[in-house]
Amino acid sequence: MAKKLYIKTYGCQMNVYDSARMADVLAPLGYGTAETPADADMVILNTCHIREKASEKVFSELGRLRRTRAERREAGADMIIAVAGCVAQAEGAEILRRAPEVDIVLGPQTYHRLPEMVARATRARSLKDGKKRRGAGVLDTDFPPESKFDHLPAPAPDQAVSAFLAIQEGCDKFCTFCVVPYTRGAEFSRPVTQIVDEARALVAAGAREITLLGQNVNAYHGEAPNGGEWDLGRLVRHLADAVDGLLRIRYTTSHPRDMDDDLIAAHAGVPQLMPFLHLPVQSGSDRVLEAMNRQHEARRYYEIIERLRAARPDLALSSDFIVGFPGESEADFAATLKLVEEIGFAQAFSFKYSIRPGTPGAAMENQVPEDVKDERLQRLQAVLNAQQVAFNRAMVGRVLPVLLEKPGRHEGQLVGRSPYLQAVHAPADQSEIGTVVDLRIEDIGHFSLSGSRVPSEHKPNRSNRETLQEAVA
Ligand code: SAH
Ligand code: SF4
Ligand code: F3S
Repeated sequence: MAKKLYIKTYGCQMNVYDSARMADVLAPLGYGTAETPADADMVILNTCHIREKASEKVFSELGRLRRTRAERREAGADMIIAVAGCVAQAEGAEILRRAPEVDIVLGPQTYHRLPEMVARATRARSLKDGKKRRGAGVLDTDFPPESKFDHLPAPAPDQAVSAFLAIQEGCDKFCTFCVVPYTRGAEFSRPVTQIVDEARALVAAGAREITLLGQNVNAYHGEAPNGGEWDLGRLVRHLADAVDGLLRIRYTTSHPRDMDDDLIAAHAGVPQLMPFLHLPVQSGSDRVLEAMNRQHEARRYYEIIERLRAARPDLALSSDFIVGFPGESEADFAATLKLVEEIGFAQAFSFKYSIRPGTPGAAMENQVPEDVKDERLQRLQAVLNAQQVAFNRAMVGRVLPVLLEKPGRHEGQLVGRSPYLQAVHAPADQSEIGTVVDLRIEDIGHFSLSGSRVPSEHKPNRSNRETLQEAVA
């Protein structure tokens, strides 16, 4: 009997990856994809705890799901509701108390056990009315001794052109604002062989670009094929050599502390490694960086960027910023603005500091008033937005290699990604999905660029790399 599964994903790319794995794990039980929650026999909310707003979304969504399930029951169907991810890990049994409609609560490290949880949740239904008995919710937020990665089925046979591959999970850094070390647990790196196998399977299923994922991806130190350990630089070089058909490699998210020589060298030597790096700095002030426990000074960030740009002159940067961390003065904030002005970002994410229960930052006394955070965020975003617009404008007239991913807005058009993750629309045929074509950028819209094909005989003599170098300069 075919059943249907709907997964709603919040938060980071790791959650997107995990959602796909949960679907893989449930496929052998007969679960296919539902288009909407109303069509679903099971709904999983894969949640994010990083900021208060992200967490609270879960409970409003659960309210909606309760009504959807009631409607389904009137029509003689039913629905299992599961809460997964970082809110589930952080709040555990509290979710079952606050939202009794939930059947299953599971953390990010236990989803290989989903089939068993579904069986238990089904048994927990009363024979009389099919409803869950009070207190019968299934809770599994262990950090099990076995690795879920050893118990996952092969990736589905139809992959998008751009795929995620988790190589590392968890974090031992304990930045004082952050819940991740608590929700994802201790840092863990997958063995190289397992990663290579998964990369090959993804490419065989249609992927041409792989983004290596980890909460601290450049802290990667996985078991090497012949003993010992490899770092991320070595892994990237190996994937580039060993996985035929893999055109592009990216990795995220990195910490400045772990940006080592080998990885910087990979940026110079591996053409598949895209010249775009998300390297969160959070603040430009040494005082704030110290209070955040980032374990480096602003100067180190400037130095790394300089070395990266020396290794790969066409590299463009992205980052994360937090404004209004406890104790942040106007002078501290000015140091952040200065860093942004001096380094220059193609794109960035910026957030107001959000107090997270249980983290050291929550107990700090010098919290910054909300209106000050608002005002600083606006000022920072004005500068970052202007840099992003300037970066995109600088692409007009240039030739970019674009990996075509899927149908675009209009017929006869595909949309793909530039090396800098910009969406680019171009006239192309369906059959060209998964190939890289050179496009001359003609126009920039709100959310994407558009370009025209560069006929090979008119290709500029200069290498793309040189052209791009000028664009980021
Ligand atoms: N592993 C990544 C961060 C993951 S969280 C790293 O080390 O940088 C993604 C981003 O969310 C962080 O970079 C930070 O900018 C932001 N963030 C994390 N906790 C936050 C909080 N309590 N309030 C506001 N923003 C936060
Ligand atoms: Fe959170 Fe810091 Fe770890 Fe990143 S490095 S996940 S910000 S604790
Ligand atoms: Fe959110 Fe957890 Fe990712 S808190 S950002 S889903 S690691």
